Amino acid sequence: MSSPRWLRLLTDNLGVNKAPAYTLATVEQNNPQPIPRSRTLIHRQVLTITPPKSLLITTTDIRTPKASQLIINSTSEATFWFPESEIQFRITAQTYLLPNPNHQWISSFPFDLLSGNKVFDWEKFRLDAYDSLSPYLRASFVRPVPGTPMKSYDEANSWPQTLSTRDEAKGEDEKNVAVALENFAIVVLDPTKVDLVELAVHPNRRTEWTLTTGNVWLEQILVP
Ligand SMILES: Cc1cc2nc3c(=O)[nH]c(=O)nc-3n(C[C@H](O)[C@H](O)[C@H](O)COP(=O)(O)O)c2cc1C
Repeated sequence: MSSPRWLRLLTDNLGVNKAPAYTLATVEQNNPQPIPRSRTLIHRQVLTITPPKSLLITTTDIRTPKASQLIINSTSEATFWFPESEIQFRITAQTYLLPNPNHQWISSFPFDLLSGNKVFDWEKFRLDAYDSLSPYLRASFVRPVPGTPMKSYDEANSWPQTLSTRDEAKGEDEKNVAVALENFAIVVLDPTKVDLVELAVHPNRRTEWTLTTGNVWLEQILVP
């Protein structure tokens, strides 16, 4: 089965961007009224284990508010804007967190749904993803809990500024890598709806794809 046009377009646009970023919206529900929350994330890769399922992969710290928001409500919306091609993607997704294997939320990760009948080593995937980050980003996972108050910006000078890969780590670094790996998590977006807006063509075009229960992407042209 060939991939849907939205995925081919997304892949083309991701291919010409070094560090493509998108806005991920989630819902914070532990309030009298649900509150929308959004933030910028770096897209890491498209992972296809069982076609036609194509998963969008990013990474985060399991201690961040977005993680608890996604555990309570796994529906998110990722918005990509590619200025060169003047294309916007709004991707609604079921969104799953892959934390360290001892974390309580590992039980929420749908291994069978995402891997199907294929053998896929998700923990190796997580560890390799940690190694592939820059030394500076790796060090971010040993900071105190993200979003908690600090007395001054200077406090951050005492934190590790860079951190090794698993293989490189020696001495104090080994302990820090272990802590980083406790906090480091993969975020998996499993798209269910895609709303594409193309502004470079005149008249502009808008197209929506919806994934049916039979795993077929239905395409519908919409008024932009
Ligand atoms: C360009 C850019 C890229 C970012 N990439 C990520 C990322 O890949 N993962 C991540 O957790 N936070 C990333 N951040 C930080 C988030 O936007 C956010 O500030 C942080 O994750 C806390 O979000 P939360 O409080 O909503 O959980 C990025 C920020 C910027 C400006």
